[in-house]
Amino acid sequence: MRCITTRLQSVASSNTTRRDFVRRIVLASAGLGLVVRRAGAAPATPLPMVQARLGVPRGQCPQPLAGVEIGTSKVCVVVGEGRPDGTIKVLGVGQAPSRGVRKGEIVDFETTLMCVHEALADAEQKSDVMIRSVFVAVTGSHIRSFNNRGSIVVPEDRDDIHEQDIEDVKISARRVSIPTQNAFLHTINQSYHVDAQKDTMNSIGVRGQKLEANFHIVHGVRTRFQKTIGFVRGLPLVIEDIVFAGLASAQAVLTHEQKNLGALVIDIGGGTTEYILYNSGAVKQSGMLAVGGNDITNDISMGLRIPLTCAEKLKIEEGDVPLGNSLPGETVLLKDDFGIADKEIEREMLNTIIQLRLRESFKLLKRQLEKESFIDYVDAGMFITGGCSLLQGIDHLAQEVFGIPARVAHARSISGLTSAFQNPQFSTAIGLIRYAHAVHADSQLRGHFRSL
Ligand SMILES: Nc1ncnc2c1ncn2[C@@H]1O[C@H](COP(=O)(O)OP(=O)(O)O)[C@@H](O)[C@H]1O
Ligand SMILES: [Mg+2]
Repeated sequence: MRCITTRLQSVASSNTTRRDFVRRIVLASAGLGLVVRRAGAAPATPLPMVQARLGVPRGQCPQPLAGVEIGTSKVCVVVGEGRPDGTIKVLGVGQAPSRGVRKGEIVDFETTLMCVHEALADAEQKSDVMIRSVFVAVTGSHIRSFNNRGSIVVPEDRDDIHEQDIEDVKISARRVSIPTQNAFLHTINQSYHVDAQKDTMNSIGVRGQKLEANFHIVHGVRTRFQKTIGFVRGLPLVIEDIVFAGLASAQAVLTHEQKNLGALVIDIGGGTTEYILYNSGAVKQSGMLAVGGNDITNDISMGLRIPLTCAEKLKIEEGDVPLGNSLPGETVLLKDDFGIADKEIEREMLNTIIQLRLRESFKLLKRQLEKESFIDYVDAGMFITGGCSLLQGIDHLAQEVFGIPARVAHARSISGLTSAFQNPQFSTAIGLIRYAHAVHADSQLRGHFRSL
């Protein structure tokens, strides 16, 4: 007999709060009254029956990890587990259309709450894991980044580098002035130099007196991060860490070799485009632009004078980026499904609208990246992910604008649900699992959210 516990039993049955009530409704409406409690994505002891089902010997059950992206278009919850060889397995993906989120930030808590509950319940049901703690992706136009160097002198009573020195050199690199309302999100190591010697990626145990290190530092408005943290805690879930969405996506789509060669990842979602550039295995640039697929849909809606829902459908089903792919005069018939009369749309017109907006966004991004010279050294090229990467021919346009090889990318070399990792819309949430796995192996990688 399987060990079953209801999700709802874990919530106090008497004294129902509104939150519990919402959760009950969502679970009930999704037909998910019962959820097999395999193991919490938090520190719960795995049930023996479930270990047997996984074929994992007792005591060696990998810890399930959960990643949540509350995007402008959809909420995505991925449950996975890390393997000792560094690979991850996706156990289940839950999703729900997103509402109450503008340009990557929650603006209507009540509405978004319903969406996140729905996605959580979906993920729990598909993975058989009761989610208690999560890694959460964050984005927003307030996010900024820069590179800086830290430097410390090793205490006199020793002559080699200890873990504490790594922490101290990080703190030293953060001694720069950022706006007072801002907080650090990530301090990502680029290289260490002991006594001005050659770069090294790991300096612990190296003999020397002076440690210097270069970091890529990501920061943003403290209260905006706190909003997301408060929201997720109110679900209620424990937050293990918050992670810049672009950083998470890069973990899903890039290999170590590509990071070493130099690579640019752009994740084009509904309201935002996150970017991150790697060079010599380290993050050199990152950020976001407040443009995405919704802007293309808006342009189509306004340009063709059709409702937004109709424009979105048209973009997804008929949209194409390169011009000249359609025959002169070729049209698409818009059926009377949206309360408008049948309408013929010129295909070339539709594609021109899509192309113009994307070209402008790429140019904007290029200008942003060209403030530094790293874009000249991305030998592995450019990787486009996120929902908009599904637009046919987007890679050709990117290649033309940036002048570097570009390709559409989804999560790589992951076992489990093939349909999940082949969908570029899930790159951020899947990347969170990879990030989580790396953080569990090396706590130095953890961000600063506890100090927020
Ligand atoms: N097949 C498709 N073709 C073109 N655009 C698509 C397709 N599927 C989704 N999109 C677009 O992708 C965007 C959503 O991407 P996603 O990565 O899920 O966004 P977010 O992470 O911001 O929620 C929307 O603008 C949507 O219209
Ligand atoms: Mg996204």
